[in-house]
Amino acid sequence: KLVTVSVIKADIGSIAGHHKVHPDTMAAAARVLAEAKRKGLIIDYYVTHVGDDLELIMTHRKGVDNPDIHGLAWDAFKKAAEVAKELGLYAAGQDLLSDAFSGNVRGLGPGVAEMEFEERPSEPIVVFMADKTEPGAFNFPIFRIFADPFNTAGLVIDPKMHDGFKFEVLDLYEGKYVILNAPEEMYDLLALIGTPSRYVIKRVYRKRDDEIAAVVSSEKLNMIAGRYVGKDDPVAIVRAQSGFPAVGEILEPFSFPHLVAGWMRGSHWGPLMPVSLRDAKCTRFDGPPRIVALGFNVTRGRLIGPVDLFDDPAFDEARRLAQQIADYMRRHGPFMPHRLSPEDMEYTTMPQVLEKLKNRFVEAKDYTKAGQGRTQGETYE
Ligand code: 13P
Ligand code: 13P
Ligand code: MG
Ligand code: MG
Ligand code: MG
Ligand code: MG
Repeated sequence: KLVTVSVIKADIGSIAGHHKVHPDTMAAAARVLAEAKRKGLIIDYYVTHVGDDLELIMTHRKGVDNPDIHGLAWDAFKKAAEVAKELGLYAAGQDLLSDAFSGNVRGLGPGVAEMEFEERPSEPIVVFMADKTEPGAFNFPIFRIFADPFNTAGLVIDPKMHDGFKFEVLDLYEGKYVILNAPEEMYDLLALIGTPSRYVIKRVYRKRDDEIAAVVSSEKLNMIAGRYVGKDDPVAIVRAQSGFPAVGEILEPFSFPHLVAGWMRGSHWGPLMPVSLRDAKCTRFDGPPRIVALGFNVTRGRLIGPVDLFDDPAFDEARRLAQQIADYMRRHGPFMPHRLSPEDMEYTTMPQVLEKLKNRFVEAKDYTKAGQGRTQGETYE
């Protein structure tokens, strides 16, 4: 019997800036899901938040991309956004970019990670949820979990994993994807996913039997809205144990707070800090970018848990290092590479500032432009 896990999230407004979801808005969303559970549309749910992103974790039997499930999430966000508006919360309804719901929330603003599978006798999963960053932030840890034997001992030791994994890599600019196999095509894979603003790991499959192992949300808000409307704070689902990486192997990459794009105004590189739900709020420079990991067992569709996996002194050093990196990066102020590159600033409000200066530029007579002042046919090579 197949079960589907759907994690659907949206920023529907936040108390005091882009800091944290208000409990009353979570309660409004939870009421909608409770009713759907009572009616049997979903089997189980868990509502939570990371920073200003409201997260709906749901289980059901309807498969991925189901209009009823997406409609349910949309209703829950709408109800929560109404409360946010009533409370005057900041950026109420931020990620609900369209009123035209027609069967699927993709393309409307919310982020979606869903997978359908046959439940194993014990089905442990980890749900990751991040704020103040983008889907490509998962490239680094997902690669390490499923392709790096220095991270995941099981790739070497466990015969079920020893063949490796298949990576579905999405080109966000072209809307195309490619499947690459690790370990054989590891260098090709890295050549793509090292550009996380464009190429994102969307799904991972176990090679020996094509079982789904992981899925990441990949919605890019600026491509939907055509302007900066906050960051596409991503979520991911990863299956664990008996033929998949152990939970400890899945968490291990987060002991290194790698640099991700997002943070203040979605315009800065900063360390991804693993935190407990208690610390899932964004304060310093609207960050630093944070990630929460919740562990569940999916049992006959029910969500047993969660356990708050980063609520552990074992991640204190990662958090401390993240603070040090935050200090170091912040001291660059408005300079790259703390601030994102010009291409990535295109959708922010900065082009408006640069536009103002355009007519102030005059020809520089004492400067020879590249390509000028050379005899014809001469090249730099
Ligand atoms: P299994 O998931 O196969 O039980 O083994 C992995 C493990 O628990 C080692 O950490
Ligand atoms: P969010 O996407 O989390 O709303 O971030 C908005 C922002 O610009 C924070 O500085
Ligand atoms: Mg926000
Ligand atoms: Mg957010
Ligand atoms: Mg956002
Ligand atoms: Mg075991």
